[in-house]
Amino acid sequence: MELKENVNLQKLPKHVAIIMDGNGRWAKQKGNQRIFGHKNGVKAVREVTEAAAEIGVQYLTLYAFSTENWNRPKIEIDALMQLLVSTIHSETKTLLKNNVRLMAIGDRESLPLSVQNNLQDSINQTAKNTGLTLVLALSYSSRWEITNAVKKIALAIENKQLSHEDINEQLFSNYLTTKDIPDPELLIRTSGEYRISNFLLWQIAYSELYFTNKLWPDYRKDDFYEAIIDFQNRERRFGKTSEQLSDER
Ligand code: FPP
Repeated sequence: MELKENVNLQKLPKHVAIIMDGNGRWAKQKGNQRIFGHKNGVKAVREVTEAAAEIGVQYLTLYAFSTENWNRPKIEIDALMQLLVSTIHSETKTLLKNNVRLMAIGDRESLPLSVQNNLQDSINQTAKNTGLTLVLALSYSSRWEITNAVKKIALAIENKQLSHEDINEQLFSNYLTTKDIPDPELLIRTSGEYRISNFLLWQIAYSELYFTNKLWPDYRKDDFYEAIIDFQNRERRFGKTSEQLSDER
């Protein structure tokens, strides 16, 4: 029996977020440059996108480039940006064929123009798709996003468009780059690291966390299904007791 058949389609997480990690180590293990790992990571991106779309997950967010990644050697940053441009360009057809809508979160203005343009082009082309929404986190970090939201709220108060009394969780969420995207129920991180690395800190308040030792370029559909099945076997209590949950069922 295939692993996919063990996924309960009635209990799917609406939104899965992934910290793709381990490209550099994967390449090093093979005696190659780090960018070789990133290039092979694209296959894993394709696999999880397909896997998520096949079972009916509605949102998949991939941490593709963090604010902190700007501190990497220029040669690696340039190669990653080039890889993003070529991948987005070459995969748009596949996204269209599979009814996938592309979105992006993060400080897009800090990206090279070639990435911004390609990204916007693909976002426009896929905007009407109704299947999976693939969200790329690019030049993204939570602290950047939260600071940015606070600045925008402060400005709105200064301009008398908002009163401090209006601020609540819902309003704050609307000032984040993830506005209109539901919070992820499941966060996966590859490569055996147990960190969140400044990713979706506000949004993962109630997410289930799943860690695997697999390095990202080795990540395949079955690994994704395994994480979903693990998620489905957990009890999500949101601060309530098990007994309360049984009574509600
Ligand atoms: C983390 O591995 C990976 C990244 C910072 C980049 C991920 C990018 C891709 C998979 C390529 C293109 C993606 C898309 C969405 C088109 P690492 O370099 O931190 O690995 P290490 O921890 O082993 O050094």
